[in-house]
Parts: sequence; C-alpha cells; structure tokens
Amino acid sequence: MIQIAVIGYGTVGSGVVEVIGRNHDEISKKAGEEIYVKYILDLRDFPGDPYEDRVIHDVAAIMEDPEIKIICETMGGIRPAYDFTKQALLQGKSVCTSNKELVATHGPELIRIATENKCNYLFEASVGGGIPIIRPLNYSLTAEKIDSIVGILNGTTNFILSKMETEGADFAEVLKEAQDNGFAERNPEADVEGHDACRKIAILSSLMTGKNVRYEDIYTEGITGITAVDFRYAKSMDMTIKLLAVSVMLADRLYAYVAPFMIGRDHPLYFVHDVFNAVYVHGNMLGDSMYYGRGAGKLPTASAVVSDVVDCARHLGKTIMCFWDSENVQLAPVDERIGRFFVRVAASAGVSKRAAERFGDITVISPQAEDEFAFLCGPVSEAEFAAKAAGLDGLISRIRLN
Ligand code: HSE
Repeated sequence: MIQIAVIGYGTVGSGVVEVIGRNHDEISKKAGEEIYVKYILDLRDFPGDPYEDRVIHDVAAIMEDPEIKIICETMGGIRPAYDFTKQALLQGKSVCTSNKELVATHGPELIRIATENKCNYLFEASVGGGIPIIRPLNYSLTAEKIDSIVGILNGTTNFILSKMETEGADFAEVLKEAQDNGFAERNPEADVEGHDACRKIAILSSLMTGKNVRYEDIYTEGITGITAVDFRYAKSMDMTIKLLAVSVMLADRLYAYVAPFMIGRDHPLYFVHDVFNAVYVHGNMLGDSMYYGRGAGKLPTASAVVSDVVDCARHLGKTIMCFWDSENVQLAPVDERIGRFFVRVAASAGVSKRAAERFGDITVISPQAEDEFAFLCGPVSEAEFAAKAAGLDGLISRIRLN
C-alpha cells in the first residue's frame, strides 16, 4: 500500500480524493499497489464528509510520517504551498500539484530539489486541467524539436468569448452570467486579464526550451476590451476571437505572448468552444499535433493530479527526468513580432486615404457599427503598428489576426 496526503481540500483536493475513491481498483492496478489517502490537510473541518476522519490541521503530521510517500498539493497560491512542497521534497516525498502559479514561479528549483532527493515534482494538472500536455511534452515528444505551441489555456475566458459570439452579448453581461452560474470566479481578474494563461504558457515554454521562461517577461493582454461589435466584424469575415497563449521559435529566438486574436475556420483552435482548452503543438519531425479537453473543473483537474500520483508510485525512489533548467530564456521583444491587424476607427472624411497612407495595402471591411471605418493591415511589426496607429485619428480598437 502507498499512503498519500492531500493538502488543500477545496475543489481540486476533494476531487483528488473522489477520483481515488471512485476509481480505486483501476488506479491501484495501474500504480502497482493500493493508493490510500491517509491525511487531508485543511484549515477547516468537514463534518459529515465521508473522509472527515482523515482531516488534519497540522502539516507536521504529514511531514513527520515516514509512511507518506506522495503528497498532492492542491492549495493554490505561493505561500504556504511553496514551503510545504519544499519541505516534502527535501524529505524525499514526491509532490503532485495543480498549482500553476507555484510551478511557473518556482518550477526549476522544486524540480532540482526533487532530483537531489530521488523523488518527483509533477504538475500535469497545472496546464490544461485534465488534458494530458505536460506528459506529452516531457515523454512523448522527446524526439522532436518543438518550434511552436499555441493554446487556448483558460476555460473561463473561452466560455465568455464563446457566449459573446453565440449570443451577441457584451463582455460585462456574459461575465456576470458566468459568475452567477459559478463558471467564473467572483474575482475574475487572473482569468480575464490573461494572467492565468500567461503562467500556463510560461510552463509550456519552459518545457519546450528546457530552460526557464519567466512569466513576468511574457507580454499579456486580456479580453476585457473585446466587444459585441468586434464579434460582428469577426463574423462578417467568417472568423472568431480567441484568447491565445503563444510560444513560437523564430530564427532561434523565442516569442511568447498572450492576447486576443481573430482566427479563421482554417485555424485548428477555431472550433474550441466553451470551457474547453486545446494546445496546438508543432514539432520539426511530427508536424502538427493537438491536445484537447476539459481545461478546468473538479474531476478533470483531479484526474490529472491522480495520474501524477500513479506515475510517482511507479517511480518510488527514482526521479523521472524533466528538462527545465533554471537559466532564464531571453525572450525576443514582442515589439518585433510581425503580424496582421484588424483596426476600427471613427469614420471621417478621408479616413480611408489616411489609413492607406500609413499602412500601405489595406483591406476595407464593411462597417458593422454606425460611423465607423474598419480595415485589415499588415504584416507589420508591433512597434511599427503602434507608431502608425497612434497618429490615426479616432482609433477605436485593434485586434491581432492569426
Ligand atoms: N481559472 C482557470 C480557467 C482554472 O478558467 O481555466 C483552471 O486553471
């Protein structure tokens, strides 16, 4: 029997206990031994919960128990999750986590400590919820030189954008509906401002390069500026708008950014709707591959954590190799990214001529709102676009095209 502890009995932590309970025989068979949840650490009590008797409040009981070989860290946030994880790894206890913030911030250090102590720090659930993406990057695509990863990595914003598209509603309206239905957090900033997707693409970029991509270095723009009118324009061009997290290697330089993009039906991520996530990976031998599924939610995320528990159980006393060095990657400045843009400006005499003078060849798009002029321009660098757009009177908005 392998005894484990779950620290943090919230949505994901209770999901972990439920998955282990419901799929007990399957999981034990695949792990090679029975997996038994001995402790559940939380500040709260859970009267009436079927696992009430395993709830404890003092982490020392877990750290000091030599029978505990694996810990599921489902607390979220940096502190005290970081201290607990480090303490566990230093004692040779493996840690499986869904905590993308901690992985993105301290990943290389925690992986190194795990290696030094012949245990594992695994984080399949930290990106894409239940979608297997860390393991494919770490195990399956090891013969590849991966040159691009493009993902829809946040379920909340994809749900909001999908609703805006189908209902013709504005951002604030859909956000409120999503919060009322429990799909979006009461404090949705990390999701809607793109910070959550930013941490996730930092993790994927680090695995892609084998070095450390700092999330603080990744240009991040959220979806709060996207409107119902933008979707009318997108529809008129047979396109949609998605929050993309991108990591692409061009001429040996890594570009990483998170921003809303207009994409057409020919883009593999066009059909990823609602809370679903997808990660589109390009390798130099395999070409394209895509990983799709539920990117958030209790049981999908818990399933990924438990898959890591099984991996740890199969590798007790051994470290599974993971290439994520602490050396920081110098990202290419996003100003140098070259792409096309969709632009909306207030209609005025001569606006079409002025836009063409500034951007060269433009494609005029039929207006979808009164007193507007809209066009497509580029390819142009971000810096050049910003400089030219700044001098364009009455700029309403711009969205990148992919
Ligand atoms: N808030 C996240 C999302 C949860 O909406 O995707 C999963 O990381």
